[in-house]
Amino acid sequence: MLVAASPVIRRRDPSWDYAGEPTKRLTHALHSYPAMMIPQVAARLVAQLSRPGDRILDPFCGSGSVLVEAIAAGRRALGIDLNPLAALIARAKTTPIAPAAVNAALEHVEAALPALLAAPPPPPPIPRLEFWFKPEVIPPLSALHAAIRTTDEPARTMLLATFSEVVRLASNTRASEFKLYRYPAARLARHRPDPIALFRARAARNAALVATFTPTADAEIRLADSRRPLADLAPGSVDAVITSPPYGDSRTTVAYGQFSRLSAQWLGLASDRDLDLRLLGGEPVDAPLPPSPNLEAAVAAIARRDTRRATAVASFYVDMASCLTEIARLLRPGGVAALVVGNRRVKDVQLPTDLILADLAAPLGLEPCEVIIRRIPTKRLPSRNSPSNVPGAVAETMSHEYILLLERRAPVAAPARLAGAGTAR
Ligand SMILES: C[S@@+](CC[C@H](N)C(=O)[O-])C[C@H]1O[C@@H](n2cnc3c(N)ncnc32)[C@H](O)[C@@H]1O
Repeated sequence: MLVAASPVIRRRDPSWDYAGEPTKRLTHALHSYPAMMIPQVAARLVAQLSRPGDRILDPFCGSGSVLVEAIAAGRRALGIDLNPLAALIARAKTTPIAPAAVNAALEHVEAALPALLAAPPPPPPIPRLEFWFKPEVIPPLSALHAAIRTTDEPARTMLLATFSEVVRLASNTRASEFKLYRYPAARLARHRPDPIALFRARAARNAALVATFTPTADAEIRLADSRRPLADLAPGSVDAVITSPPYGDSRTTVAYGQFSRLSAQWLGLASDRDLDLRLLGGEPVDAPLPPSPNLEAAVAAIARRDTRRATAVASFYVDMASCLTEIARLLRPGGVAALVVGNRRVKDVQLPTDLILADLAAPLGLEPCEVIIRRIPTKRLPSRNSPSNVPGAVAETMSHEYILLLERRAPVAAPARLAGAGTAR
């Protein structure tokens, strides 16, 4: 399936695996998120690709793992994500808070709780609220949310992120899944979450995390679509890009929208349209396939089995091409973009995303340097799936990640005699 024409060299390097190493340092443990980049990989890329004071962009920042490591190492960080819950978590993880401010906010919540628990405000209008939450957890969740809302920033954002984890743990959805699956009846009968106790334990832990986090630069987080230009940023204004894009569309890979939905609904962050459809590859794009021999071969092979899936796969890479265009515009000449990707299978066809993105990036002035292959020892990802959608037919997938390094070439200056001469024919 692989088309050998691609010039990029793949190199397996076990020193990037970090098997068994702790992943909870700094503020990384503040809130879980699907497919988080492990801190060691983020920190190593930050150290290798930038200097203190540089600006690092993560156009798919998720919960902010790259941003945390960047600002801890004195790099200015800019994170973009289309998921409002991700933006909230990333803000909470990148904002240090003085212990006195955290304590004042926690005291405020404790002082407000008794009256709110005695007369809880009505819950937000969440569809099928009592399917996803036992009746007894709804009033304490309403009381907690009301108490947190009246705290002061920056502690409020941290406490809202803490509340988000409590919503997930207090809900009837299986804690081990990204998608929304309700516990089976027998498990549900044993499920007796206490939202207030959960909040107190997690708030104490998170308060300690943000109070001991001492970054030496700032992070900016924007709720935006990485397919669109960041119009206020000048060309070449970013020194390095470090990111892990989605592995494919949210419906058939990691459902960030489903993972976030209950929290987002409680927090009033949910939009009117299904987030998973708005994320990369979420909807079919009516555009020609971007130029890549590896992509053409893969899409043709999938189309022989299922044309609808082939269109969905093509749409994801059309979207990725738009993101790469903006990365190429923003990255300074000589700057490097590191894209950490997974090569999933669709309909038994391996999608070499690292090579496809190398193909798409080269004409944009992003020169493929190499691909480092690492094993995924700890990442919370589906490691087995049914690539053919045949019940019972499972295959290993996503056991490795591919770190694609692209260097921004200096734009080629127009020959002097053509400058300003209009279109040559
Ligand atoms: C693999 S996750 C990033 C995880 C992150 N590295 C972390 O450690 O938490 C990919 C992210 O891309 C985001 N995303 C998908 N489509 C997007 C788009 N068009 N614009 C911006 N973000 C998008 C998803 O919401 C998700 O948070």
